Formats: sequence, structure tokens, C-alpha cells
Amino acid sequence: MVICKTVDSLREYLTSLGSSPNIGFIPTMGALHDGHASLMRAAKSQGQFTVVSIFVNPTQFNDPSDFAKYPKTLPEDILLLERTGVDVLFLPDVSEMYPEGTQLSEHYDLGYLETILEGKYRPGHFQGVCQVVERLLKLVAPKKLYLGQKDYQQCMVLRKMISLKQLPVELVIVPTRREIDGLAMSSRNMRLNEAQRKGAIALFQALEEVKHNILEKTNASFSSITSAAQHVLESKGFIVDYVSVAQAPDLQLVDHWDGKVPLVVLVAAFSGEVRLIDNELINLP
Ligand code: PAJ
Repeated sequence: MVICKTVDSLREYLTSLGSSPNIGFIPTMGALHDGHASLMRAAKSQGQFTVVSIFVNPTQFNDPSDFAKYPKTLPEDILLLERTGVDVLFLPDVSEMYPEGTQLSEHYDLGYLETILEGKYRPGHFQGVCQVVERLLKLVAPKKLYLGQKDYQQCMVLRKMISLKQLPVELVIVPTRREIDGLAMSSRNMRLNEAQRKGAIALFQALEEVKHNILEKTNASFSSITSAAQHVLESKGFIVDYVSVAQAPDLQLVDHWDGKVPLVVLVAAFSGEVRLIDNELINLP
């Protein structure tokens, strides 16, 4: 695996590959786990020359302590990338990504998508995500961009950014990888203590419960179903930002279902200081 730490060295290396290589690109913030690896495996199985970036992007953290405490495991990350057969790791530092400083240079018109769920609870977060991913896409120029369903709203936001900027890249969304007990793999799981880690499966259980109730209790409003799930999480010590149901194609929040449009249930909650998110799709019975 080739490691490039500067924009110039990455450009030079990619140019040396000749005209239009089929690049599959996986942007990450490191602290890699098998969820990240599943994106890399997807790119490789689709025959892509696989480029991964590791960059903890300061402009997408609305909470400075969350940024400071973001886990860093570079030696293990490099082993995982080598094992997975990744071709290039791009590992820039902040001054390399933001030579003109980390202020947001432009506003992305994300509309409704930025007013709900993660957008509501993490103001400015998606602007920072769009800023860094646009820069990375322009630099790497991949044919395909691989993102995880784990960050469902991020996928929708980046799809919108790609269309706003008319970037010539195909978005591939890879299903969420879970631990054996159902907990969605996440870099933030490393920050949970043993008791919190055991308790964290409650998020997945809440999603399953909401899904079950939506499919079984066809007369109940979604708000009554999600409130019940939120209370269960709170009784287990979580501070809940939201348990919500939305239409999967556009994330329009809904309280009833016509039984036709696929839905997605989304949850965000704190276990102690660690904020976890997860989601599950509900398809037609
Ligand atoms: P990060 O949290 O490192 O995630 C990188 C990619 O891995 C994202 O597309 C995310 O959805 C995916 N991913 C994380 N956990 C996953 C799991 N359990 N199963 C499948 N995919 C999973 O998301 C970011 O970084 C950043 O916002 C980034 C896009 C890199 C921009 O800075």
C-alpha cells in the first residue's frame, strides 16, 4: 500500500497511474473497524483501485471535546488497510487539507435535510462534512464513492452535495456492519466502558422494537411508538436526542404509513459522554 501524506504526492501518484483509472474512494476518520473494511471490500469486489483517506475533519465537529477525544489508532488502521488490500492511503494533516484555514468557505444549500435529526442536533456538522468530502472528491476523482448506511443522513446529504456540485461520481451505499449482539460498529464504541458497551445494544433493540410495532400495530401513530422506545432508552440511562421515523428516499419525517414508501427508523442517544447513532430500514412486508 502506498501512503501519501500531502496533496501533491497523492496527485502525482494518481497521475502516474495513467488515464481514468477506476478509483473507488472511501473517506474515513480512522479508528478503523470491520464496518469501514466492508466498504473497502465492496470497492475491491467491484474491481476498483481502492483509495482510503484518514482525516479527522475538524470542521464537522460542533463539539470541540468530541473532536479532541476522537479515537486515533493509526498503526492498527494501517494493518487493517494492508490486510484488506487497499491500494492507497491518503493521510493528510489539517494544514494540508485546509491551507487557508478551517473556516467554512462556502455554504451548501442542503435545505430540509440540514434542519432535521443530525442536522438539528449538530448544527454546522453537515456543512463541514460536505466541505471535506467535496475537497477529497476533487482531489481523488473517483468513479465510485463508498459510504456506510450507518450514517444514513450523511449519505443523503452527500448525495445532495454531489448533485449540487455536479460531481461525476457514483455513490455506493454499503449496509451497516454490526457486532454479534447487534450493536452497529462505530469508532466511538471504543470510548464505551465495559458496562456501557453491554448496555449499548439497547439502541439496536429500540430500532427493532419500533420496526416490529410499525409492522404489527398498524393503527398506532409513529410518535406513540417512538416515544415508548425513547422512554425505554431513558430508563436504561441514555440521554436521547431522537427516535424518529422517516421516509427512506427523502428523510421526510412521518407519523403514519401508506404501506408503500420504504421507511427508515433512526436513533441518536448519549451513553455517558459518547454519542451513538443507528438506523434500520423498514421495507414492505
Ligand atoms: P467515519 O465515521 O470514519 O466513517 C467512514 C465511513 O464508514 C462512512 O461512510 C460511514 O458511514 C462508514 N461506516 C462507519 N461505521 C460503519 C458500519 N458499522 N457499517 C458500515 N459502514 C460504516 O463518516 C465519516 O467518517 C466522516 O463524516 C467522513 C465521511 C469521512 C467525512 O469526514
